[in-house]
Amino acid sequence: MVVELKEKVYWVGVVDWNIKHFHGHEYSTHRGTTYNSYLIIDEKVALVDTVWGPYSQELIDNIETVIDIKKIDYVVANHAETDHSGGLPELMKYIPDATVIVSEKGHESVFKHYHERWNFKVVKTGDTVSLGKNSLVFVTAPMLHWPDSMFTYLTGKNILMPNDAFGQHYASSGRFNDEVDEIEVYQEAIKYYANILTPFSDLVTRKIDEFKKLNIPVDIIAPSHGIIWRNNPLQIVEKYYEWASGENEGSVVIIYDTMWNATEKMAIAIAEGLEKEGVKFKLFNMAVCDRNDVLTEVFKAGGILVGSPALNNGLLPTIKPILEDLKGLKFKNKVGAAFGSYGWSGENVKLIEENLEKAKIKILQEGIKFKWQPVKEELERCVEFGRNFAKGLKGHG
Ligand code: FEO
Repeated sequence: MVVELKEKVYWVGVVDWNIKHFHGHEYSTHRGTTYNSYLIIDEKVALVDTVWGPYSQELIDNIETVIDIKKIDYVVANHAETDHSGGLPELMKYIPDATVIVSEKGHESVFKHYHERWNFKVVKTGDTVSLGKNSLVFVTAPMLHWPDSMFTYLTGKNILMPNDAFGQHYASSGRFNDEVDEIEVYQEAIKYYANILTPFSDLVTRKIDEFKKLNIPVDIIAPSHGIIWRNNPLQIVEKYYEWASGENEGSVVIIYDTMWNATEKMAIAIAEGLEKEGVKFKLFNMAVCDRNDVLTEVFKAGGILVGSPALNNGLLPTIKPILEDLKGLKFKNKVGAAFGSYGWSGENVKLIEENLEKAKIKILQEGIKFKWQPVKEELERCVEFGRNFAKGLKGHG
């Protein structure tokens, strides 16, 4: 259902309740998502972002409930990723002469996605397009999260449309933050930040500072996924500022997998050591846990302990993807250590430590490994290992 944000500004997007994996299978979307598209009616008519391609007709039908689609003069493509630009090919069949507004990088990426020579207008930060009474103002936001990413601001209505920034993969019946469960929204917002935006945290901070200096009024922040922030909209900006700083809860995440429970016994004993020192922890067996959810917990924590038995001179395959993610995401201000059981070659701990170092996670203490099944005395050493890690973490923090 089309929803009015402010007079003559409409959400005409799509709620996708059933998508459970995004980016192929890279990102889990347990709560679905939305593709937000905004229609602005003034003397000129503008559409800011479209939807994912398979939902093009739904977007077109939504627009038609408000206005004759042929009246659209401008289509802003803030970002070429197909969950937002995918509706362009169908839409542009109705309005082939409309102007498609893109950033300089967007000019390249939108064209290279669709290979159509639409009537492109390239904008840079500070450029404006008058719609009549109000204007669109553009701010490029490179690497938040693609080189082409751009924010669009609507004067007069004070609406910021920052595309992916401040968004969440969250399907809901209400479109606004005051209509939904705030805890769920923040769970999805931090997951989005942790899994997608963390490598660009310094840019996030700089962009927010840049915006604050502009001192422009913001009544609504309308991202391209999830709910629209209208009740105290700047709360999510402050959260981004906090998340970008790398502050953490001082807790520990233990991630591991196990073949015949030896590494699991070690994980539980290490957790006992943390508990004895009063450090909160969460334990995740990667054979059964969702990678993106675990990464979110690592993002929130101060320490990460990784365990795997040795297998074929390496690690269990279930552990490798999250180590790969950690290398790419480069979480700030984390410390780590490794553990695991082995049978003969025993490279596991060293390999985990190498991965943690590549992820810029400081190795707090030498890893611990035991041959075959750990005996009582060895498990007691695991408890001690956990206690020492807890003490080191407190010292680090
Ligand atoms: Fe929601 Fe970067 O696309």
